[in-house]
Amino acid sequence: MIGLTSMMPDKFRLDHPAIDMQHEVLFALYNELKISQENEEQAFDLGDIFLGLNGYVATHFLFEEELMAAFSYPESEQHHEEHRRLTENVANLHNRFKQAKFPQEKTQIANDVAEFLLTWLAHHIAEIDRYLVQHLNSRPVVH
Ligand SMILES: [Fe+2]
Repeated sequence: MIGLTSMMPDKFRLDHPAIDMQHEVLFALYNELKISQENEEQAFDLGDIFLGLNGYVATHFLFEEELMAAFSYPESEQHHEEHRRLTENVANLHNRFKQAKFPQEKTQIANDVAEFLLTWLAHHIAEIDRYLVQHLNSRPVVH
């Protein structure tokens, strides 16, 4: 990303500039969460992380889903299902956070969010989105 420090290791780069740029946002959110955990500020910062995540899942998934439709992606049903599952997980974690009353609960939720994001990055981006980009890049550009 021009002018910004990349948080995303090269192995997660999928050779699709728009999708890669959006994935950078998720890495930045993960990084922000790790820093707030290390500084024991998680109870405060976790609200910001959820704000970022809620907006992210809505716009980024829609972007990918529109590309799948435009490029007749054969695996789109499975990919949509993954997006639904990730969105549901974010909503469940957010509900737990909104109902949490004690700092220990918020610490536990912060740990769960970190683990959830790590699995998302490692599985969804590195595998599921990689197949999608391979398909997109093998097609002529639609105008
Ligand atoms: Fe995806």
